[in-house]
Amino acid sequence: MLANAPIGVIDSGVGGLTVAKEIMRLLPNEKVLYIGDNARCPYGPRSQSEVRKYTWQMARALMNKNIKLLVIACNTATAATLDSLQKSLPIPVIGVIFPGARAAMKVSVTKEIAVLGTEGTVRSGAYENALKSLVSSCHIVQLACPKFVPLVESDEYEGEFARKMVRDTLGQLDSKSFDTAILGCTHYPLLQTFIEEKFGPSVTVLSSASETAKDVENHLRFQRMLADAKHPPVHEFYTSGSTAIFGTIIEKWLEIDNPIIHILKFPQT
Ligand code: DGL
Repeated sequence: MLANAPIGVIDSGVGGLTVAKEIMRLLPNEKVLYIGDNARCPYGPRSQSEVRKYTWQMARALMNKNIKLLVIACNTATAATLDSLQKSLPIPVIGVIFPGARAAMKVSVTKEIAVLGTEGTVRSGAYENALKSLVSSCHIVQLACPKFVPLVESDEYEGEFARKMVRDTLGQLDSKSFDTAILGCTHYPLLQTFIEEKFGPSVTVLSSASETAKDVENHLRFQRMLADAKHPPVHEFYTSGSTAIFGTIIEKWLEIDNPIIHILKFPQT
């Protein structure tokens, strides 16, 4: 395996770009190959076996492109597939749930933590397990926010409509009962301003993106696999859906002009 081989990053759609952004910021020499399975997004309401099948398809597509490390930049897919990918692939595989839990434990004083995620992530109990493995006495409240991902995927995450949707959804939680909220879906950082506004200054809102990027760096450093490219890398993006909104969000979120986008079709079975 070559140190200058790319890092693979996968998500059901544009959410994983929030993790890719931190990887690009922390490791500017690394080339990223990103897949968004936008045609089959959202994964949140799907069964674990369906999510596992789709995630494996993305992982195989990137293995064929000789990646040196895979980041499952999707909580729903991490909950369903991390173990099987880690056991089966010959390269390191990093998920986003444990880094998110670790980030929350670092900042929480009361150890009362809210987890916002998809139905699949909440149902899996993966955050609960990760958080309790760090501090067994912690107190956790979880909320599935199924309306958030379609809002982000359709590039409607910035306006008044989004703000109201966030306010209405999070109204179900009592923000006095926790001091930290984990954005347990990689799409949610695009709504972070509205989420922080709703919870107010007593709650720290965080995502797993920067802790995940640190894990990527640690793995590559330990394996002596950090890229030593002489030129800035040219990242490449793949989507199973339409390139228009995907491209717009990449340009806005990653500040990349005219990103290289390929269409990737998955078998229908
Ligand atoms: N961004 C993903 C996550 O972190 C998936 C959202 C979805 O497809 O429902 O869970």
